Amino acid sequence: MKNISIIGSGTMGIGIAQIASDYNHKVVIYDKSKKSLKIAKEKLKKILNRLIEKQKIDKKESQRILTNIKFSDSIKEIEKAEIVIEAIVEDLAMKKDVFQEIENLVSEKCIIATNTSSISITSIASACKTPERVIGMHFFNPAPLMPLVEIIPAIQTSNDTIKKTMTLSESWKKTKVLCKDTPGFIVNRLARSFYSESIRIYEENIANKETIDWAMKDLGGFKMGPFELMDYIGNDVNYKVTETVFNEFYFDQRYKPSITQKRLVEAGYFGRKSGRGYYNYLVKENLKINQNRELGKKIVWRVLCMLINEAIDALYLKIASKEDIDKAMKNGVNYPKGLLEWGDEIGHRVILEEIIKLRETYSEDRYRPSPLLIYLSKNEKKIFENGEK
Ligand SMILES: NC(=O)c1ccc[n+]([C@@H]2O[C@H](COP(=O)([O-])OP(=O)(O)OC[C@H]3O[C@@H](n4cnc5c(N)ncnc54)[C@H](O)[C@@H]3O)[C@@H](O)[C@H]2O)c1
Repeated sequence: MKNISIIGSGTMGIGIAQIASDYNHKVVIYDKSKKSLKIAKEKLKKILNRLIEKQKIDKKESQRILTNIKFSDSIKEIEKAEIVIEAIVEDLAMKKDVFQEIENLVSEKCIIATNTSSISITSIASACKTPERVIGMHFFNPAPLMPLVEIIPAIQTSNDTIKKTMTLSESWKKTKVLCKDTPGFIVNRLARSFYSESIRIYEENIANKETIDWAMKDLGGFKMGPFELMDYIGNDVNYKVTETVFNEFYFDQRYKPSITQKRLVEAGYFGRKSGRGYYNYLVKENLKINQNRELGKKIVWRVLCMLINEAIDALYLKIASKEDIDKAMKNGVNYPKGLLEWGDEIGHRVILEEIIKLRETYSEDRYRPSPLLIYLSKNEKKIFENGEK
C-alpha cells in the first residue's frame, strides 16, 4: 500500500500519520478543523525536533517525514487512499457519518479502519454499503512508541481485509494481535481489574493510594501504580472506558465503575493534565506509604488474581488466542508478564481459592471464577503446557 489517509488529526491521528510517513507511505491527514490541523503539524514538528536533539533521526529524515504528510481540511483529498484509518472523536453517530462519506470517495478496494477504543466495529461497519472492508485497528497512545495494535474484524469483515491489515501492521513493525469484536477488545477489558480492584481496596480503607501504588510497583513489578496510571491516562478517559465496558456487558458487576472515580471526574480532578487527580500535582503532598510487606503482598495478590481470572475468562470465551492475550498486555500496557503465563507460574488452584474467598467475603457476582479457571484448577492443567512459552 502506498497511499494512506488518516481522518482526524488529534492525539491518535497525528501519531498514526507519523508512523505511516516514517515507513514511506504518502499520507493525507484530514480534519474538519483547520485549528486541529495546525496544532497537529506543530506538534509533529516538535516531536521530530526532539528526535533530532536525541540524535534518533537527522534533519533530512525529519524533512522526509514531514513532506510525506499532506495536512488537509478537504476530505476529497483521501480519494487515492488504499487504506483509510479513522481517528475522530469517540462517537458512534459521527463515526457512521464519516464512514459513509469515506466510502463515497475511495475506490472499491480501499480498506476502511477505525481506531475506536470502545465502539463496536460491527456497528460502525453497518453504516457502509461494503462492510467487508471495515476493520478495527486499535493503536495505543503514543502510537509511534507503543508497539501494540489490536486488529478487530467486525462480523462482516472479509478475510482479505484482515490479511491486508495484518500485513500492513507487520510492515510497521507493530506487535499485532487479533481479537473478537467485544467490549474493550483485549487490553481495555482485561485491564479493568487493575484499576477497579485497586479502587475497591482503597475504598475499603485497607490501604491508602500511595501504599497500593507502592505495592503494585515494588512487589508486583508493574511499571506504574494504578492510581498514578489513572491520573496519567486521565480519570475522565479511564472512567469513560470503564463505564462503556460495563454498559456494553449489560451491567456485569465485574466491570462496575466506581463512585470514587466518578466524583473525581465531576470535580474536574482529571489527573496530571488538570493538576489534580488522586494525587495533587500542584502542591507537594505528604505521602504516607505503609511499606509493610505482608500488607503489600495481600494487595498485589488480590488484584493479580482478579486480573488472571479475567484473562483466563477472555481465553475461555475465545476473545483471542492465548499467545495474543499475553502479548497484548505486555505490549499495550507494559505488564511485566503475560497474565496467562503468570497464572501458570502461580498455579490455578490458589488463584481459584482467592476468588472464592473474595466471593464468600463480599457475596458479589463480581468475584466469579471463570469456568476455565475451575477446570484448570481441578485438572491441574496449565495453559502453556510443556514450556510452550
Ligand atoms: N487518546 C487515546 O489515548 C486513544 C488511544 C486509543 C484509541 N483512541 C481512539 O482514537 C480516536 C481519536 O482519539 P483522540 O484521543 O486522538 O481524539 P482527539 O480529540 O485528540 O482528536 C479527534 C480529532 O478528530 C477531529 N474530528 C472530529 N470530528 C471529525 C469529523 N467528523 N471529521 C474529521 N475530523 C473530525 C477533531 O477536530 C480532532 O482533531 C477515538 O476513537 C479514541 O477512542 C484514543
